[in-house]
Amino acid sequence: MLSSIAKRSFSSSSASAYKVAVLGANGGIGQPLSLLLKLNHKVTDLALYDLRGAPGVAADVSHVPTNSTVKGYEPEGLQDALTGSDVVVIPAGVPRKPGMTRDDLFNTNASIVRDLAKAVADYAPKAAVCIISNPVNSTVPIVAEVFKSKGTYDPKKLFGVTTLDVLRASRFVSEVAGTNPTNERVTVVGGHSGITIVPLLSQTNHKNLDEETRDKLIHRIQFGGDEVVQAKNGAGSATLSMAQAGARFAGSVLNGLAGESDITEPTFVDSPLFKDEGVDFFSSKVTLGVEGVKTVHALGELSSHEEALVQEAKDTLIKNIQKGVEFVKQNP
Ligand code: NAD
Ligand code: LMR
Repeated sequence: MLSSIAKRSFSSSSASAYKVAVLGANGGIGQPLSLLLKLNHKVTDLALYDLRGAPGVAADVSHVPTNSTVKGYEPEGLQDALTGSDVVVIPAGVPRKPGMTRDDLFNTNASIVRDLAKAVADYAPKAAVCIISNPVNSTVPIVAEVFKSKGTYDPKKLFGVTTLDVLRASRFVSEVAGTNPTNERVTVVGGHSGITIVPLLSQTNHKNLDEETRDKLIHRIQFGGDEVVQAKNGAGSATLSMAQAGARFAGSVLNGLAGESDITEPTFVDSPLFKDEGVDFFSSKVTLGVEGVKTVHALGELSSHEEALVQEAKDTLIKNIQKGVEFVKQNP
């Protein structure tokens, strides 16, 4: 196995060896996500961390015959899990139950994410960090504030994972249009909760849907998470589709770090798009590169309906972002 120093010395050009850490690896998302990351040939070192159970997940996943080492870490091993990581994926935290909004998770998950962010700042300050823990609209600003306070904030390396909205949009559009979902690419912008999720259908081949069909489709994409929460009936929220989404996003980040061209994903980042309106984080199409974020793309042409949806999303996002920032100020 390459030492982390050796890895870093060539990791920004022809990299072929990457350490990925999953924090919350024993959870509903963490387990299948760890399996999918084990199947990614760019991952040579997979570090699985959880408050409990990560060594068992690691032993299990490690039998999959791909060319990577897998190690599980218990709480006292967080430093070792993180040290040398190129990418850190964080699905740690509690999921919703029926009747809850993602914001209802804030009180529990804010401190979990804050504390893990402190550890990332201490032990993997150069890593690209992908936040899955909800509410993403607030947990990403929490991580940014922690990194700022530790002097390690690199806005190019912090991502809120909104890929599940993109997967849902592809799937749900294909169900309405009778197409193959693998050929449907829908840009979803804004944030990751309810009305902050804005699919840009006018930029697809389906811009001429009648108003009722369009509105139902948009609503389904915005509230797709609720379908799973209700169906699981108290046993959590999306885990398997989220693992697929998380593995795809982490894979794209790795492809970018490896210098591959045209790696583009919508993701919730520190964004210049609406900063002048007080929206410091926003999800839009982002090209990923060796430094993390390479280009944050503008939204492009929107229908007047989408303009209104984006405006509504921005109003909610400002509050969600502020809540995260305030939390760290009050609870450093
Ligand atoms: P889960 O309860 O099944 O698993 C969470 C795991 O986190 C558990 O194994 C738990 O032990 C671990 N954990 C808790 N605190 C920790 C800490 N301080 N350090 C390390 N590990 C810790 O939950 P889940 O279904 O995997 O969901 C996890 C989170 O992901 C939830 O907040 C959920 O809302 C969110 N989520 C986000 C998206 C998205 O699109 N971004 C999609 C689905 C779920
Ligand atoms: C999702 O979109 O499925 C996740 O954010 C989990 C949830 O709470 O809905």
